[in-house]
Amino acid sequence: MDWGMRNRLARMFPTGSGNTVMLAVDHGYFMGPTRRLENPRATLAPLLPHADAIALTRGVLRTSVPPEAMTPVVLRVSGGATVLKEDLSDEAITTPLKEALRLNVSAVALSIFIGAPHEHESILSLAKLVDEGEDSGMPVMAITAVGKELEKRDARYLSLACRVAAEHGAHLVKTYYCEDFSKVVEGCPVPLVVAGGPKLDSERAVFELAHAAIHEGAHGIDMGRNIWQSDHPVAMLKALRAVVHDQASVKEALDIVAAEKQRPATSPHVAAA
Ligand code: 5RP
Repeated sequence: MDWGMRNRLARMFPTGSGNTVMLAVDHGYFMGPTRRLENPRATLAPLLPHADAIALTRGVLRTSVPPEAMTPVVLRVSGGATVLKEDLSDEAITTPLKEALRLNVSAVALSIFIGAPHEHESILSLAKLVDEGEDSGMPVMAITAVGKELEKRDARYLSLACRVAAEHGAHLVKTYYCEDFSKVVEGCPVPLVVAGGPKLDSERAVFELAHAAIHEGAHGIDMGRNIWQSDHPVAMLKALRAVVHDQASVKEALDIVAAEKQRPATSPHVAAA
């Protein structure tokens, strides 16, 4: 692996744990102004210093992140369908690698839709992006998207999807946590990070998910709604860092959140209430 590629990866995995805490704020590219991400700049500002990387589109990067921010960027480069369409898999590469280089990002990310109508196109897009990434020293993260079918999140399906991503050259794969997650890890020869999915019922459930994922071999999280839809997003992010980097238990994570809640509110949503 060339120096540029290694350097970009090292920026996203900055601590000795070998893991990463990515903050996902790319939902608007197909969901529009998602709850509590209506104003990305306001949502992001207090969270930026606590994330190892942020995952977003070029539009939100340019409009809502100060260029002085040192947080590494994972740039989503696929799109082309919205929640108003039945088939979310009808995506292509919407942002060329030249633009990712111009924006000085640390990685590019695209969704692949295994088993969906546009599976073929999404795999070819991944392969093309990997070719270009290898030429330019740009890591590629494949996202094993499930479209509207959240029930697809089982070990059999996700193992297949993650393995296909790695076989086509992805340097990193984002997927979902599931029962028997260690089987997904075992079958995937590149690092995996897990998304959080729609907001869970409790803070405990979020930490249990992250703790189990790390314990079973994930190299980090790339989480969105369970952080910034919380009333205490900074506290959630700090507690998740402890789980991902310091092997904190679920109880320790809950204690961190409880302590953080005593501090003045940093969520724009709570402050405004
Ligand atoms: C949207 C994405 C999201 O980045 C991913 O789902 C992580 O966010 P969340 O934790 O809210 O699920 O890929 O397509």
